[in-house]
Amino acid sequence: MQHKPSLQKRLGLWLIASVILLWLVAVASASFIVRYEMNQVFDSALEETAQRILPLAIADILSRDSDTGPQRAPALQAHHEYLTYVVRQRNGELLLQSHDVDLRVFATLPRAGFYETSSHRFHGIAAVQGTIYIEVAEPLAHRQAAFLRITLSLLKPLLLLIPFSFIGVWWLTRRALRQVVQLQRLVEVRDAGDLSKVEVQALPEEFAPLIDTVNRLLARLRRALDAERSFTANSAHELRTPLAIALAKLQRLQLQLQDEPLKTQVQEIEHSLRRLSRLSEKLLELAKAEGGSTQNEQLNDLVPIIQMLARDYAYKAPGRMLLQLPEQAVKSHLDPDAFAILLRNLIENALCHGDPQQPVIIRLSADGLLRVINGGTVVPAEQLAVLRQRFVRSNSKSLGAGIGLAIVDAITSSAGIELHLYSPARGRCDGFEVSLNIIVVV
Ligand SMILES: Nc1ncnc2c1ncn2[C@@H]1O[C@H](COP(=O)(O)OP(=O)(O)OP(=O)(O)O)[C@@H](O)[C@H]1O
Ligand SMILES: [Mg+2]
Repeated sequence: MQHKPSLQKRLGLWLIASVILLWLVAVASASFIVRYEMNQVFDSALEETAQRILPLAIADILSRDSDTGPQRAPALQAHHEYLTYVVRQRNGELLLQSHDVDLRVFATLPRAGFYETSSHRFHGIAAVQGTIYIEVAEPLAHRQAAFLRITLSLLKPLLLLIPFSFIGVWWLTRRALRQVVQLQRLVEVRDAGDLSKVEVQALPEEFAPLIDTVNRLLARLRRALDAERSFTANSAHELRTPLAIALAKLQRLQLQLQDEPLKTQVQEIEHSLRRLSRLSEKLLELAKAEGGSTQNEQLNDLVPIIQMLARDYAYKAPGRMLLQLPEQAVKSHLDPDAFAILLRNLIENALCHGDPQQPVIIRLSADGLLRVINGGTVVPAEQLAVLRQRFVRSNSKSLGAGIGLAIVDAITSSAGIELHLYSPARGRCDGFEVSLNIIVVV
């Protein structure tokens, strides 16, 4: 069977994926803005530092003796410098440097304004008519680390959000689709014979047209089946009396006839009328089996019914009925009338289509397993598979219309019983076996 996607699962997964995606988009845009704002703050700090230090540095340089050379600004306390600076002349000659500076990161000639290398961001200011420059450098790694920390702190809630949204979305979709799941279960547990209305309270609006259509179709199907059944039952019933009258008149006519060839012709007509009469009886039984109830409120012991029917048929086919029944009663909710019709059809079949030299075995176990077994030639598997359909027969030599097994099938499916046909019979190499469990669970 092809795997069908579940609405609940699909909805859940899409919702969770959307929440995560939206969160990631939010984190990305937030970090973009944060990065922009941070750069502005850091740049302004860089500029501020340069402007603060420059006058002090110039005062320091101008107050020195002319041959003291470049100087390193002393650190008051040992610390690591984030911002380092150099004060140089326009030609690049060094005048003053911060204590932790790495001169290799600066260009050979000083520059004014903001600029960047692969490792540092600089800000330079010129003073004393462009003869003295201060350049403050800040490592880019510092900004990147700060930016990474902020982005990670924005991403952290996502770790919590994923399990919470899993639980939340699962709970919400389950709640929202509760009625749909209920509808699915209602339809799932129905058997083919249940054509009653499908009803689920508070079903989402989107499903209302679907339920309406299903219910309309079920109602039409119910009406069509009822019409078919009542037509079969009525016509079979209406045929009964005229057929019986015609048969009676034929028998009277037969007694009055002297001419032998004419007598034979009348016998043939009688034979056909009997077949017709039997067919109408069977059709009536089928209509009843398909339309009537096959279950009873109270439990009935079905063993006496088997014994009674076996006795009836023992008169018609002496010595062929072989009963194997349990000592105790076998009680079932199966309607006794329906069971009698079912068993009669099975016994008739076994007697009529089975080997006349072999017995018909009716075996019932204490747990309700009924088996009707007869000898005879094996029915091919492809025919066996379709025998329970109406008017289907495998052996055209014997009498019959092909309705008996359809009646049995109608009764068993309406009672929720599984019907099994085997040929050859189980444990044998010939014959036919019908098996079913007569204990009906209501
Ligand atoms: N016990 C059996 N042994 C051998 N063949 C069987 C047996 N029961 C049924 N069949 C085969 O299945 C066919 C269908 O049986 P079904 O009872 O439906 O119709 P039928 O007996 O031919 O006619 P009807 O029951 O309407 O008088 C039979 O014609 C026969 O070929
Ligand atoms: Mg039959």
